[in-house]
Amino acid sequence: MRAAFIQQTGAPSVIQVGEIPTPVPGQGEVLVKVGASAVNPIDTYIRGGIIAMATQFPYIPGCDMAGTVTALGPDASRFKVGDRVWCSNQSLFGRRGTLAEFAAMDEKWLYPTPASQSDELAAAGALVGITAHLGLHLNAGLKADEVVFVNGGTGGVGSAVVQLAKAAGAKVIATVGSAAKQAICRNLGADLAIDYHSEDMDAQIQAFTKQHGGIHVWFETQREPTFDRTVGLMASRGRIILMAGRAARPQFPVGPFYVKDLRLCGFAMFNASPAEQRECATDLNSLFEQGKWMPQVGKTFPLSEAATAHAFQEQNTLEKQGTLSGKILVLP
Ligand SMILES: NC(=O)c1ccc[n+]([C@@H]2O[C@H](COP(=O)([O-])OP(=O)(O)OC[C@H]3O[C@@H](n4cnc5c(N)ncnc54)[C@H](OP(=O)(O)O)[C@@H]3O)[C@@H](O)[C@H]2O)c1
Repeated sequence: MRAAFIQQTGAPSVIQVGEIPTPVPGQGEVLVKVGASAVNPIDTYIRGGIIAMATQFPYIPGCDMAGTVTALGPDASRFKVGDRVWCSNQSLFGRRGTLAEFAAMDEKWLYPTPASQSDELAAAGALVGITAHLGLHLNAGLKADEVVFVNGGTGGVGSAVVQLAKAAGAKVIATVGSAAKQAICRNLGADLAIDYHSEDMDAQIQAFTKQHGGIHVWFETQREPTFDRTVGLMASRGRIILMAGRAARPQFPVGPFYVKDLRLCGFAMFNASPAEQRECATDLNSLFEQGKWMPQVGKTFPLSEAATAHAFQEQNTLEKQGTLSGKILVLP
């Protein structure tokens, strides 16, 4: 099969596209003909060697994909040949990646794709949808009528947070980097979309949250959290969610934090159990069918341009170029 793979970590240019053996599904595994796969910031970190997950070569990057089941390994029983499925959490901890014509994975990571959802949309919503769901529900315990704040409301995770929080009945404040993205973010359901370049950003947040006592759930998607500012804007008993910034070592205002009865939750989606991720996936599928969850596709590349797709993700994740809105897809 054709696949994108690396023989060593490094810049996007280390990605090659060529023929490698099609995987044979093992015990409890399913072979899927990939219809679309998605690129995530973590792919940048792994390919670049920042996160040491690429340990066996050739290493195929890619956590997410959607496609059609073509073969079952021994004792795989959840799906049958011809079923449409999607997944996340591949290319991690020794699992194979998804930037290929075929991918074989344990059936515990696979979910049925709704009949009305394309492979492109299913792949685009995979990791980011599960992440937003875990953050808002398992970690923050979001309740209807609470106020959620998220940085980057048209980004991969941010656009999912906006939609899932709205679906749960919350009020949503999001920041974005341009007027065009403000419009997209409002369309996704944000009650207040603020350009993060504006000088009166916090005054706008305070005006919006005055009647609610502040922000109940701060979902931080940025790698440099600003705790003094965040704690000041939080409502009593609010929850601050951290999920980015491995190298960040920010100052922390202990006194203001505890006198507001705040809580701080960190999580990495890949630590969630298969059962926890399946619960998110089931809910995401249902929300898609109800028209409450629409994964955002920003740019699509053919498999032959996998290195360009990675470079584009890196420019937006590490260099913050702001040229992406939604997910990057790679089509085999
Ligand atoms: N812990 C986990 O399980 C987990 C899971 C998924 C992702 N992550 C991490 O979460 C982070 C975000 O991932 P992603 O997929 O959403 O990335 P992404 O699609 O690249 O989005 C990044 C967002 O950051 C926004 N942004 C840039 N500068 C900003 C600023 N100064 N203030 C506010 N927002 C700003 C961008 O907004 P504009 O485009 O409008 O400039 C964009 O929406 C990454 O570091 C990723 O590694 C962690």
